[in-house]
Parts: sequence; structure tokens; C-alpha cells
Amino acid sequence: MKFSWFPGHMRKALRQVEESVALVNVVLVMLDARIPHSSFNRDLERIVARKPCIYLLNKSDLAEKQATEDWVGHYRENGYTALPVSAKSGRNFDKLKVLLAGHRAELVEKRRSKKRLDEDLRIMVVGIPNAGKSTIINKLAGAALAKTGKKAGLTRGLQWVKLSNHVQMLDVPGIFYPRLTGEVQAWHLAAVGAAREVAFSIDDLSAEILRFLKSRNHAFTADMEVTATEEMLDFAGRKKNFIIRGNKVDYDRTAMWVITGFRDGYFGAFTLEYAGEKIESDQVV
Ligand code: G4P
Repeated sequence: MKFSWFPGHMRKALRQVEESVALVNVVLVMLDARIPHSSFNRDLERIVARKPCIYLLNKSDLAEKQATEDWVGHYRENGYTALPVSAKSGRNFDKLKVLLAGHRAELVEKRRSKKRLDEDLRIMVVGIPNAGKSTIINKLAGAALAKTGKKAGLTRGLQWVKLSNHVQMLDVPGIFYPRLTGEVQAWHLAAVGAAREVAFSIDDLSAEILRFLKSRNHAFTADMEVTATEEMLDFAGRKKNFIIRGNKVDYDRTAMWVITGFRDGYFGAFTLEYAGEKIESDQVV
């Protein structure tokens, strides 16, 4: 499968985080629970490591439960704070809020001992595109969501968003990928919809998804005996009755149906990368 990769803007995004991380107390690193390996960025990790980090395995509703638990165990063994969440359903938000409250309490106590009255916890949310950053921010903020405006003295252009009474979030634009080393990670990022920058054709991507479903013995592909891209799309299109003039399969519609269905969990919950599994490179956890 062919893919193209243009990480030119990565350096700028990382520099932005590097410049602003000193302004926050805690960093929330959003991972996609289906591809924790490929949504983890070593460069970003190195930059934010000077602050307490909470690794959130988001979209856990779309991942295999046991696999996500194994990942949480894996992170904890390696000294990370990790929590499976679903930004959409609010799963484990209570635990996340407890973690944040703990950090705030510690901070406030430290500040008081220095006679400082500031009671706000400042956080930053980073992650690959589509990891669920906006969703979690909106959910955490609820009715409190409000831009607090630029603060004098802080890096120009940075925006603070009030998440709750005493929690402020630094809105850092920028997207982060791991350093990709091959096709497997690229297709994983594309499959979950994190790959605006990793361009596959929709035919290739949907065929790869169908191959994957076949490898997992999914009922939809049970009768699929073919392995070539066009033949697989033909199989799926006829099964869904996506037929156009001349009894031909509507390939675009079929491909988009497969891709969207996979991303949205129509075929069920799938984990593409398991804890401890080696995927192409040892550059990422
Ligand atoms: P980003 O800011 O990191 O780029 O991601 P964003 O929050 O925009 O989320 C990307 C998509 O993922 C959204 O779907 C969002 O609803 C979905 N999403 C986020 N968190 C979860 C989760 O925990 N579980 C599930 N199942 N989905 C999640 P969308 O189709 O782009 O938008 P919409 O249909 O929700 O409006």
C-alpha cells in the first residue's frame, strides 16, 4: 500500500509546546486507545516530561477492553500515569477529575508555603489529530467553557480557556505524530482517522480494513475469499447493494462506508496495537 508522509510542520508544533510547557502545571496527553503505540510521540514526551503528565487512552469505547487494560498496566509499569477514558461518553472523567484535583491541592499547598495566593491549576492538552482533544475539553468544561483571553506577560498568541472554577487550559495549536518508520503505523493512523497528513487512497485504505476484518474473522468478511483491492471492494459493495448503472459497484461509496464504519465502531471494537508488541520501530513506546 502506498502512502505519503509530510511531517514538515512537526518541528514548529513541538517548538510551540516547548515554549509554553513552562506555563502549565499538568499535561494531558491524549492517545487513541486503538493505536496507543502510533499515537505516542517520543519527542513530545521528552518535552512535556518536566511536568506531571496524565496519559489518557481515549476512545476506549472503540477499543478492546482487555487490550486497553493491558496498555494501562504497561504504562503504569513504566512509571506513567495512565487512564482509559471515553471523551464522548465521559467514562472515567470522575477519576480524571480526582487526579487533577490532587495535583491542584498539592500545588496550592506549595504556593501557600511561599505566601502565594494563586489557586488555579493550569493544564495543556496535546495529542494526534482526532484523538479527541476538543471533545474532552468541551466535556470537561461543560457550561464553564469560555476563552479567558490573552494574558499580559505570557507568550503572545496563547489562549487560556477556563475549564472549571480553578482549572485553566492553555490552548496550544499544533498536531503531533510519532516518527513514522513504515506502512503499518501509517495505515493504523489512517484507519482511525488521524491521518490527514498520511495520505492513502480511500480504495487502498478500505481494502486494508477489509483485510484486517478478515484476519479477525469478522462476520462481514466471512464469505470474502478474494484478496485484491478491487475484488474486495466489489465484495463489500455488492453485499451492501451499493450498485450503480450497469450493475457496477459504487467503489467510492463502498470505500467510504467501510472506512467510516470502521472508525465509528460499526464493525465492533478493535485494538490495532497491543502492549508489548513490536511495531516496525523501537522509537516509540
Ligand atoms: P481532536 O480535537 O483531537 O482533533 O479530536 P475531536 O475532539 O475533534 O474528536 C474527533 C472525533 O472523535 C469526533 O467525531 C469525536 O466525536 C470523536 N470522539 C472523541 N472522543 C471519542 C470517544 O471517546 N469515543 C468515540 N466513540 N468517539 C470520540 P466526529 O465524527 O469528527 O464528530 P462528531 O460526529 O462527534 O461531531
